[in-house]
Amino acid sequence: MLAIRLVSGSTRPDALVLPIRLGGPDAPPALVPTAVPPDGDVRAAATALLPAARLTGAAGEIREHLRPGEAPSRLWLLGVGDGDEAAWRSAGAALARAGKDETQITISVPDGSESALRGLAEGLLLGSYRFRLTEAGARPALARVDVLVADPDALADTLAAARVTAEMTRLARDLTNTPSSTKHPAWFADQVAAAADRPDLHLRVRGPEELSAEGFGGILAVGGGSVQGPRLVELDWRPAGARTHVVLVGKGITFDTGGISIKPVPAMKLMRKDMAGAAAVVAATLGAAALRLPVRITTLAPLAENMVSGSAFRPGDVIRHYGGLTSESTNSDAEGRLVLADAMAYAVRELKPDLLVDLATLTGANAVALGKRHAALYAENDDLAADLLAAITAAGERAWRMPLADDYLEYLASDVADLHSSPARGAGSVVAALFLREFTGDLRDRWAHLDMSAPSWSDDVHGELTRGATGWGVRGLLRWLATLG
Ligand code: BES
Ligand code: MN
Ligand code: ZN
Repeated sequence: MLAIRLVSGSTRPDALVLPIRLGGPDAPPALVPTAVPPDGDVRAAATALLPAARLTGAAGEIREHLRPGEAPSRLWLLGVGDGDEAAWRSAGAALARAGKDETQITISVPDGSESALRGLAEGLLLGSYRFRLTEAGARPALARVDVLVADPDALADTLAAARVTAEMTRLARDLTNTPSSTKHPAWFADQVAAAADRPDLHLRVRGPEELSAEGFGGILAVGGGSVQGPRLVELDWRPAGARTHVVLVGKGITFDTGGISIKPVPAMKLMRKDMAGAAAVVAATLGAAALRLPVRITTLAPLAENMVSGSAFRPGDVIRHYGGLTSESTNSDAEGRLVLADAMAYAVRELKPDLLVDLATLTGANAVALGKRHAALYAENDDLAADLLAAITAAGERAWRMPLADDYLEYLASDVADLHSSPARGAGSVVAALFLREFTGDLRDRWAHLDMSAPSWSDDVHGELTRGATGWGVRGLLRWLATLG
């Protein structure tokens, strides 16, 4: 991963980046005052370049100016928009891309601005992300970015936090991009074990025998069609003195064929991403531990491969979930809610947390309703919804609150079980949320559900998003967890 260093004092780097703020009707784009001003002649040279550079100052715009024989020999003008964290994040990502063939660049930033540094660092680290299984193909040469600040010590914690956030988002991207031939449930659990190998994190992994002995019928049904047995990962961060206990649950379908209700080719193409929720909650928990956030977090990742075989569960089967509620499943492609139901019921009955949040690539309807960049947020509790939305937005992710419409509840009625898991009526993402709500017990008003099927994957390069897995949820969850004491 790209190294970012805070350095003070005036240097004469080879490649120097100077931020430019957005111009307006009366104010042309201009150099942003920085903590360590470049030497007078460099600043004057940059100012002189501006009129001809045809920059608007929009976040992420870049112009390179060559100055042979002078120091710095390259001057880059980087648009940072209105200078808020999001604009710096876009600028950082654009810089990582434009500078990929450099080995080192130096950038000057405004004095004492934690949000600018945070945005810049996250943008650099996320924009430079690549997932490759082989060495073939061009890797970015950019190894180090020096950030010129007045007082490196004063900003060290801000940079460290941004680095943890980005590293964990990259971990979630790696897990989600990994082909499903590799990432079967046991492999995923092993990755968690390797990443959580520190004395203050506790991990328990249940295999098929324990799941069966304890009655996790949903996880077993969905995992039953694969030769790779299901797992339930339970990861606990328990700092001394924590007053709040959060349970995070993430859908971990390591591949979703749809099962016997098999998906058509186009819909199955990307189903290795169907564990993005599990990846996000695990990565956020590891991040919370690295940052030593004073909140207890138990993360549950029900892991299963939804396959087609002689041992696969069938449409019409009745499943007994953890805790005893039964569901009639007439579509084996509605598998996510079945594994989440077990994990949530277990959390409510055994862990009794203060708050319960689940993340899941649950429905294609998420993208139908909201497009490719917003997750659908469901919560009964307005404060919890507002807090989550605020944290998600501040972190540079997006979600939109959707209704838990009680009048659709009747569609979940079954003649043979407590619930029908894949009703044909009602809105797809909403009825899936209503199904999950039935497993929240006393935590009904302290539960939130994020259907993040759409934003878990990006088809194009966009700001800090690269093509493929986005790591959606890690940044927002970390921001939200940091607000809990
Ligand atoms: N994993 C899918 C949802 C999905 C679709 C995620 C597209 C990402 C992109 C989920 O298991 C699923 O198949 N949902 C069905 C539910 C239906 C059968 C009730 C769907 O959305 O079509
Ligand atoms: Mn499915
Ligand atoms: Zn699925």
